[in-house]
Amino acid sequence: MKTAIYPGSFDPITKGHLNIIERAAKIFDVVVVCVMVNSDKKNPLFSLEERLHLINKVVGELPNVRVETFSGLLAEYAKRHEPAVIVKGLRAVSDFESEFQMALINRKINPNLDTFFLTASEQYTYLSSSVVKELARYGADLSGLLPEQIVDDVLEKTRNRG
Ligand code: PNS
Repeated sequence: MKTAIYPGSFDPITKGHLNIIERAAKIFDVVVVCVMVNSDKKNPLFSLEERLHLINKVVGELPNVRVETFSGLLAEYAKRHEPAVIVKGLRAVSDFESEFQMALINRKINPNLDTFFLTASEQYTYLSSSVVKELARYGADLSGLLPEQIVDDVLEKTRNRG
């Protein structure tokens, strides 16, 4: 069985993330979306558990996708799902450098672990969770950016954050 692990901070999941999940779900038998800690991203909007809940709202209809959280190293987590590969989306050349480095480090820690890159669909190349959070602060229309099931959650959480 071919399992793909799609890791990320997903704070929150965007339509760009969902596009990668849907495409990976057509290629692999199982896709495990893993909500993780990115230590460069301080002060997240949602907790890991809240992010897991939001993603479940969005991927509920996809039969071969499930969602987990893990707060350790991705290369260690992947051992639970062996044989598995990591799937990442690449939006632009600027993503490549850090993703390439992470892929190599992950394979250094866990030599069985390969990383597959899917190119982002062009309508989502500009999209990131950070852009969404910035727009949400100003009450902008998020409907083209976020899966519709979670738009209200993000606006409400942003309002409560103040
Ligand atoms: O969506 P992001 O923030 O780009 O995802 C990055 C993430 C969470 C996948 C990355 O920070 C990660 O793998 N975190 C887990 C800890 C880990 O394994 N770090 C070593 C990678 S070099």
